[in-house]
Amino acid sequence: MPHLLYVEASPRKDRSASIAAAHAFLETWRGRHPEGSVDTLDVWNTQLPDFDGEALAGKYAALAGEPLSLAQDEAWSAIRALAERFRRADLLLFAVPMWNYTIPYRLKHLFDLVSQKDLLFTFDERGQNGLLKAKAVVINARGVQIGDDFPADIYDHQSTYMATWLRMVGVTDVHQILVEKGLMGPDLDAAARAQGRAEAEALANRL
Ligand SMILES: Cc1cc2nc3c(=O)[nH]c(=O)nc-3n(C[C@H](O)[C@H](O)[C@H](O)COP(=O)(O)O)c2cc1C
Repeated sequence: MPHLLYVEASPRKDRSASIAAAHAFLETWRGRHPEGSVDTLDVWNTQLPDFDGEALAGKYAALAGEPLSLAQDEAWSAIRALAERFRRADLLLFAVPMWNYTIPYRLKHLFDLVSQKDLLFTFDERGQNGLLKAKAVVINARGVQIGDDFPADIYDHQSTYMATWLRMVGVTDVHQILVEKGLMGPDLDAAARAQGRAEAEALANRL
């Protein structure tokens, strides 16, 4: 029974271009995997604990191979629960708006919480080894089109960061969809959304 974790990083809901394409993916995927399960992690409506104080001290204690204090362990229970949602998934689906050429801060907050040694990766003399075996689909929505006036090597810290983070946690089978020009007028927006939906459905038919 395949299990999908859907991480929703846009607060725009009904107006969101990334969520519209993600929903098209989910509808097709559910049709193909009626026995599958979907866990939705909406970063705007999920309690994300601050990563400071005891939680941060616990991270450094664990890195130093020291036992965690009770307070540190308590602070880590929410982090472990969030990471477990990633560990369970066979497929990760992300709806990601571009904000200031990178990902929204709530999604980065989630990544900073769950990206922990022995939860999503190990660390040894060979370096960092990701523990996730899932595949991933990333839907990147943008107001402009990256390229030309916005060269990707300078402006794209969205799809590239997603690929870097996924690789860090072991996910290398990554499919990225772009839904661009959302702020370039209703016609270009509608055309980009229609293409994004079509690409998402086609991908869901293959995964
Ligand atoms: C805070 C904020 C920052 C944004 N920064 C960028 C940006 O740097 N580049 C860009 O192309 N679009 C930018 N946009 C536009 C969004 O990427 C665009 O509206 C996209 O459709 C958002 O995805 P969503 O519709 O799934 O929420 C920004 C929007 C917001 C709200």
